[in-house]
Amino acid sequence: MVKIELCQNLPLQHLLNKEAFGPNFHWGVAIAAAQNEGAWNTDGRGPSIWDQFARRQGKIKGSAKPFESVDFYHRYKDDLLLVKALGFSVFRFSVSWSRILPEGIGRVNKDGIAFYNRVIDECLHLGLIPYVTLYHWDLPQALQQDGGWASHQMLKWFTRFTQVCTDAFGDRVKHWIILNEPMGFTSLGYMLGKHAPGKTGLQQFFPAVHNALLCQAEGGRLVRASVSGAKIGTSFSCSEVVPYTNREEDVQAAKRIDLLLNRLFIEPLLGRGYPQEPGFTLMDKMHIHNKAWKYTERMQFNMDFIGLQNYFATTIRYNPIIPYIQASEVKAAVRKVPHTAMGWEINPDSFYRMLRRFWRYGGVKEIMVTESGAAFPDQLQAGRIADQDRIHYFQQYLHALLRAKKDGVNISGYLVWTLTDNFEWSEGYKARFGLVHVDVKTQLRTIKDSGYWFRDFLQA
Ligand code: GAL
Repeated sequence: MVKIELCQNLPLQHLLNKEAFGPNFHWGVAIAAAQNEGAWNTDGRGPSIWDQFARRQGKIKGSAKPFESVDFYHRYKDDLLLVKALGFSVFRFSVSWSRILPEGIGRVNKDGIAFYNRVIDECLHLGLIPYVTLYHWDLPQALQQDGGWASHQMLKWFTRFTQVCTDAFGDRVKHWIILNEPMGFTSLGYMLGKHAPGKTGLQQFFPAVHNALLCQAEGGRLVRASVSGAKIGTSFSCSEVVPYTNREEDVQAAKRIDLLLNRLFIEPLLGRGYPQEPGFTLMDKMHIHNKAWKYTERMQFNMDFIGLQNYFATTIRYNPIIPYIQASEVKAAVRKVPHTAMGWEINPDSFYRMLRRFWRYGGVKEIMVTESGAAFPDQLQAGRIADQDRIHYFQQYLHALLRAKKDGVNISGYLVWTLTDNFEWSEGYKARFGLVHVDVKTQLRTIKDSGYWFRDFLQA
């Protein structure tokens, strides 16, 4: 077994000092339209792939639906006040594509635009910097009917959507994130069938990856051309991949997973083309399928920053039964290492190493941690949530970030995932990531101890 260094139970609180992160460090929270807004058919919004997916039996825990969610659509003023009260200065949210273009293309829904204008204006009024994510996983259902991310029309559709957003919001929004975790939505949605639109196999995965890579770069070029003074980034998931043993077959399996989880989207963006790993037949198929070598230039764009989101480290073993990838995970619970309610390994040292690794690519000018957080089984007791686990998690991860920063990694900010508990995709409302507890029946918000911890930390 490979030994994993853990920094458990260190007395970190006293080591953490906001000043150590520097005066220009951005502290914020992140949310996403499909997870927070609700109001799924209000004011002319069209359905998204998540509205459709949630209707399918057995796809989402507890048969939960995103239709009402935590009602950010109507409660945005209260929620933004909470952001402010907790001491943050950045608010990251995404635009629901089908709210502003109900059919995905064509007709613009003025009421949808008006909603985001209200959110943006309220942010500015409160002194919060709005960060807009263009795509956070909620494709209009109308476009899925024509193939969604697997369709060759995707670039055309995404260009139109981006143009509508920059035209409407570009005068006030200067921070843009093109895609949220493209590896997440292409693999979970178009290969593993666990997320919307629920497609399985490789046939749709290849074109979905390719189209996401083209949209990522083209989206960047479009925002650059349309918004003066824009700061443009895109957000990647990343996970340190550790082989279960040092047997050659485990080491090779870990390399294949590492390519998928950490290299597939950044290397083409940096102008290196698709990554390859000798003997990885999946990538050979990908190259043949997409004639990928032709596209190196079009997949490249010089982002102002790279968003990184690290939720877990993963341990991988060779598994010949799994087609092409021939690898599977040895879960944290099986290895008896600390993990969150999602079963995700808590490993701040691996977060530190991932920050350094992405920085070492060269060509990355700035890194922003655009999401970081953890789910724990929070219980509301006598009006209070004592989520010590989450506080400890943030302390450890911030400590790790600071180490990377001191080593010279240019990290410009940290955005907490997430403000309020919300619709956690296929986990429904069971998995809770918020600094603020939400009773989904009454919509009552209660600040958790972790929210108060941030307030005290940020205002110290
Ligand atoms: C990220 C995703 C978020 C949130 C988070 C926690 O991958 O961008 O939307 O769900 O994971 O699972």
